[in-house]
Amino acid sequence: MTDDQETALDWMSASEEDGQEPTDLRPDVPHPARMYDYYLGGKDNFPADRAAAEKVMAISPRVRLSAQANRAYLQRAVRYLAEQGVKQFLDIGTGIPTAGNTHEIAQQVHPDARVAYLDNDPIVLVHSRALLAGASHGSATVVQADLRDPAGILAEPRVHELLDLGQPVALLLFAILHFVDDESDPYGIVRTLVDALPSGSYLALSHGTADFISPAQAGRGPAVYCAATERLTLRSREQVSRFFDGLELVEPGIVTAPLWRPERPEQEDDAFTGIWAAVGRKP
Ligand SMILES: C[S@@+](CC[C@H](N)C(=O)[O-])C[C@H]1O[C@@H](n2cnc3c(N)ncnc32)[C@H](O)[C@@H]1O
Repeated sequence: MTDDQETALDWMSASEEDGQEPTDLRPDVPHPARMYDYYLGGKDNFPADRAAAEKVMAISPRVRLSAQANRAYLQRAVRYLAEQGVKQFLDIGTGIPTAGNTHEIAQQVHPDARVAYLDNDPIVLVHSRALLAGASHGSATVVQADLRDPAGILAEPRVHELLDLGQPVALLLFAILHFVDDESDPYGIVRTLVDALPSGSYLALSHGTADFISPAQAGRGPAVYCAATERLTLRSREQVSRFFDGLELVEPGIVTAPLWRPERPEQEDDAFTGIWAAVGRKP
């Protein structure tokens, strides 16, 4: 059996054990979550995903480094937030589980930390449920939801079962807002979610940018994603800063992912990773 067949079988058996209908994997259509998994060196991807990912890498060779830097930033940011006393996490755009997921990092600091994972991709959901079957009972949940429907997220009973939105929550939007185009009002979406959280809550995000590549390259990357199931809207540092209106930016402010509170001295080269990263606190 090939690795791809094994991947498909893993997914299908996960959904059957879970009592769900088997999910249509659509292996012939490139999928952003599986492309991202490929950048990270995971095995949960198919030839169509790899081919699309390779096209993006040909246009922007740093994309794999960017994905890895994003994931490492996510883990540092979650640890930082937990160290600030946050025990509740609303992680939207979870992605296919990989090493060092949000609940694993948060629970290293607070064993009773709780994480609601939300993603609109049924494939991610199947895989996340399989992972969470091993999580300590009641500490994490995974819900199919779309970021473009923030009212639906805030009304979701499974979120309320796990999280007390009267207490500080860290809203995590890592590498997802570039899949929300301007017509879908990404700033309004973030404002609606942040407005629903109490003082002492945080917004942590990362966002793809074309600030470090040529306009020609910037135009070709999103075109590959157009052929996949999502469109890509890269945003500038100034555009990313608007997500933090009304929040207090945590030091060092808006920087590229490797430069957000690095644990080792970064190589100068890493600094130009095409991912803006920032954390803000609600006063
Ligand atoms: C690049 S992955 C990021 C995974 C993880 N947050 C990380 O940073 O490592 C983006 C994820 O966002 C999800 N996504 C994209 N658009 C979404 C939307 N409108 N609502 C919910 N999830 C979405 C995709 O399915 C995918 O799993």
